[in-house]
Amino acid sequence: MTAADDTAALRAGLTDQIRDMLVSPIWQAAFQHVPRHLFAPRFAIHDPDTNSFTHHDTADIDPARRAAALAAAYTDDTLITQFDAGVPVSSSTEPSLMAAMLEALDAQPGHRVLEIGAGTGYNAALVCHALGEQHVSTIDVDGRCVDAARTTLAAAGYRPTLVCGDGAAGLADRAPFDRIIATCGVDRVPTAWIDQLAEYGAILVNVSKGIVLLHHTGPGTVCGRFHSSAGFMPLRSADYTARWSNQHVLEVTSGTADHVHTTPAPPALEFTTAAFLTSLVADRSQLVFVDSDRGTVASYRWAHPATRSWVRVDLAGSDATVHQSGPRQLWTELAPHLDTWQHTGHPGIDRYGLTVQRDGTHTLWLDEPERTVHVLPAGGVPE
Ligand SMILES: C[S@@+](CC[C@H](N)C(=O)[O-])C[C@H]1O[C@@H](n2cnc3c(N)ncnc32)[C@H](O)[C@@H]1O
Repeated sequence: MTAADDTAALRAGLTDQIRDMLVSPIWQAAFQHVPRHLFAPRFAIHDPDTNSFTHHDTADIDPARRAAALAAAYTDDTLITQFDAGVPVSSSTEPSLMAAMLEALDAQPGHRVLEIGAGTGYNAALVCHALGEQHVSTIDVDGRCVDAARTTLAAAGYRPTLVCGDGAAGLADRAPFDRIIATCGVDRVPTAWIDQLAEYGAILVNVSKGIVLLHHTGPGTVCGRFHSSAGFMPLRSADYTARWSNQHVLEVTSGTADHVHTTPAPPALEFTTAAFLTSLVADRSQLVFVDSDRGTVASYRWAHPATRSWVRVDLAGSDATVHQSGPRQLWTELAPHLDTWQHTGHPGIDRYGLTVQRDGTHTLWLDEPERTVHVLPAGGVPE
């Protein structure tokens, strides 16, 4: 069997592995055709249990290690391709999530697509395969990524418009776009994306901890539902600050608080919903659950690095002791949203939606756009 045959079998295996997410023949064909290992020749896979990275090189001179690297490139894992001071800053996203997003994007032949976050170029190659390279534009802020992606895309036979720049500004020269897909996360949807969206276009983006699909509902307004949870690498714009590690959140929230009060224990939220709500209330905040020996949550830790505000909620039976510090009383801000969540049948992320106006107003709603639950405070830099 030749090397090409080997990777064809690996691609078929990956496509089969993510088949629950891959419904449309055009995306099945794209995943079967585009060689992922070309886009991530060297990469690391993170093991969350040990918080360690396993590094792979698909050109390793040792045949066994090379074969292991090729096999790893076709697993349903995020392949981390760039680090900055030990922090991952670029990667090829987990294929099942890519597939779910491409399906949700509902891009049709003839649609003009803008991708924010070219990264390795693999997602752009899939879109080129499905829709034709002349319809695809992609942008990344990192010049090293852009150079590598340009070479690999060409080697794989694709020449989309590939630009090095801040994707928060979109790509005015190629606008309007029928679809904008961001493969990095934002706190607020940049106004440029709304301005560059075609009349019946859609934006698919990770806001806070959820993926939301936004359609035009009027001039300068986009609106839509969240459909799944996700935490992409953040869009790095002028105001970008690095995230704290969980360990740092634990250290900071272990200090002496400005205010302490006792309250009935909050409703038990699973982590994804809790992280979704806390990130919407205070953008770029970070939530950590601390488990007891019995495996139940003993303490919620939540920090907002931008204001150095933090909360520690220690649970003891039906009561909780809330320790708050810093200029923002984070738990006091969150409490009404926990009440709403409890009194509306414990909604999952997919019952929430977002309306964004070009003046930067972001309104979170539940079930229908008229049912506002929260107007997000100004944050990020939307313009
Ligand atoms: C998860 S990776 C993208 C994966 C990529 N779509 C692929 O298929 O390999 C996120 C990318 O967003 C890029 N990024 C971060 N901030 C950006 C910005 N302001 N404008 C454009 N790209 C940005 C990062 O450099 C990184 O390459």
